[in-house]
Amino acid sequence: MDPAKAKEIYEDLYKEINGRSLSLEGRESQQLSSKSFVYGEAVLNPFIELIKEANPAPGGVFLDAGSGTGKAVFIAHLFFDFKKSVGVELLEALYKASEQVLERYEKEFRPQIKNDVGDREVKFIHGNILDIDYSNADLVFMNSTCFQEDLMEGLVPYVNDMKPGSTLVTLSKSINSPAFELYKQKMFEFSWGQGTGFYHRKK
Ligand SMILES: C[S@@+](CC[C@H](N)C(=O)[O-])C[C@H]1O[C@@H](n2cnc3c(N)ncnc32)[C@H](O)[C@@H]1O
Repeated sequence: MDPAKAKEIYEDLYKEINGRSLSLEGRESQQLSSKSFVYGEAVLNPFIELIKEANPAPGGVFLDAGSGTGKAVFIAHLFFDFKKSVGVELLEALYKASEQVLERYEKEFRPQIKNDVGDREVKFIHGNILDIDYSNADLVFMNSTCFQEDLMEGLVPYVNDMKPGSTLVTLSKSINSPAFELYKQKMFEFSWGQGTGFYHRKK
């Protein structure tokens, strides 16, 4: 798709969404005080670069574990050829915002670009990233800068189910599992400043 058109749609989808304040509200109402829920989000151009660096094969599945308002999922969907882009988020306020964005996208924007995106799917799940199946994903992203040690450790048996050759990108800290080879590190800009992307390949 024409990247200028994709950018126009992406910016329109998120023009009225404030993830930071939705996250604060959500943490308060769900009484979640862990630092793992601290909010920050993907920035368009650097996140396109982050995905490009993973060199995803066409037709794969992208999964954002802790998807916030869904920005990373929409960047994957609009700028890359994933057959499915999925986000999982535990905070209800953020999940609901991502569902609202998706509803607008399906009604207002997908019909305009149906020749480009075909039946590529976008899906958001209200759930815990410690409670999902990673075995179908080709590229998993975790904006893990604020993920606490218990969460990073708890994720290991789940991501160990990823298929051989698939890619896991974490931010600011790597995953401690012998089932993965850490093959690249690169800095990218995020909403709060720079973070290092750790690229792991599943053995
Ligand atoms: C730093 S934000 C990243 C948002 C999005 N991935 C992006 O890059 O734009 C991390 C997100 O992970 C969510 N999160 C933290 N722990 C989680 C858990 N156990 N299950 C699901 N989501 C979680 C937080 O609520 C937050 O929205």
